[in-house]
Amino acid sequence: MTELLNQFPDATCLESRSGFQRKLLKWFDRNQRDLPWRRNRNRYRVWVSEIMLQQTQVTTVIDYYRRFIQRFPNVKTLAQADVEDVLKQWEGLGYYRRARQMHAAARVIMETHKGRFPRDYQAVLQLPGIGRYTAGAILSIADDLPLPILEGNTIRLFSRLLLLHSDPRSSRNQKWLWEFAETLLPSQRTGDFNQALMELGALICTPNAPDCLHCPVQFCCPAFAQGKQGEIPVRVRKINYLETNEAVVLVSRKRRFLVRKCLPDERWAGLWDFPRYSLDDTPSGERQRCGALQKQLQQDYGLQTTVAAMDQEIRHAVTRFRITLSCYQALDVRGRLKKDRRESCWVSPDEIRELPLSATGRKIAERLIRQDG
Ligand code: ADE
Repeated sequence: MTELLNQFPDATCLESRSGFQRKLLKWFDRNQRDLPWRRNRNRYRVWVSEIMLQQTQVTTVIDYYRRFIQRFPNVKTLAQADVEDVLKQWEGLGYYRRARQMHAAARVIMETHKGRFPRDYQAVLQLPGIGRYTAGAILSIADDLPLPILEGNTIRLFSRLLLLHSDPRSSRNQKWLWEFAETLLPSQRTGDFNQALMELGALICTPNAPDCLHCPVQFCCPAFAQGKQGEIPVRVRKINYLETNEAVVLVSRKRRFLVRKCLPDERWAGLWDFPRYSLDDTPSGERQRCGALQKQLQQDYGLQTTVAAMDQEIRHAVTRFRITLSCYQALDVRGRLKKDRRESCWVSPDEIRELPLSATGRKIAERLIRQDG
């Protein structure tokens, strides 16, 4: 333990690493949540759960995980699926790049590893969408390999254990925190230990009002001893949100609606959406806006229409964008749908239900098409 104390001088109370490990594991055995990915573990299943859990709450992930595993029980079924099917299963979880990268990784595993999710750390790191945290989590949780992890929960926990007074996301502190994670690892049950660290962060060592009185490692937490658990980790710079205004146009003909597939460089790449335009550079008068949208529809889809405002607004946040989406309706639709690099088509409300849609696209489908109908 001396070497641990020398290396991490602020962790003066971490007198017994094995005591820390024992107490944490005992707490985990008694208090862990019963989550579907904790039953019947293998590398594929842990991978799916860990990717879903990035940026997403455990409670949201549970149902998605169950459905995903039922639909794609192994690497082979995932690799053989159309990416659209994968996106459809992912619809609503957000950060769709994760789903596209999983699909790409499944294909790499088929080609390079005969369909078996690799057990080698370097091979896992080579897969699309997998970084140091995810590789460590998969191989420790599924196979008890001695690999450390560092993510939101553990960053907060370690910052308090180390009484870290500076930004834990700085590259210097990240290096240090990774080393600390490695130093803490037990020689056995590393998967349970890593999960216990995250579970402690999720249930006890929470961002606001941590429940220190029930914490199994309170005895070695200098932040608790000094009453600084509310100040650590230090909060640094807020995200600068970008406010944007967009218009979505419902274009329908014979009870079918015009939808388009988002291009690879767009926000919802690969998902389907209704025709949508930025309003940030258009004049603010409603008449001028309708005129500009008519022109756009003619140019992009070859359709002549009369556009009218619908007096409906949808607000939506995605990554750092705050979008205000104004809804418009195209009346009196004429002309033939133009075929170009934009994949677009007419679909019935029933077909819309089956398409992987953007988050706001889904809201519109549920709200406006039902109203319309
Ligand atoms: N967050 C991400 N992965 C987790 C896991 N395996 N257990 C608890 N929280 C998590």
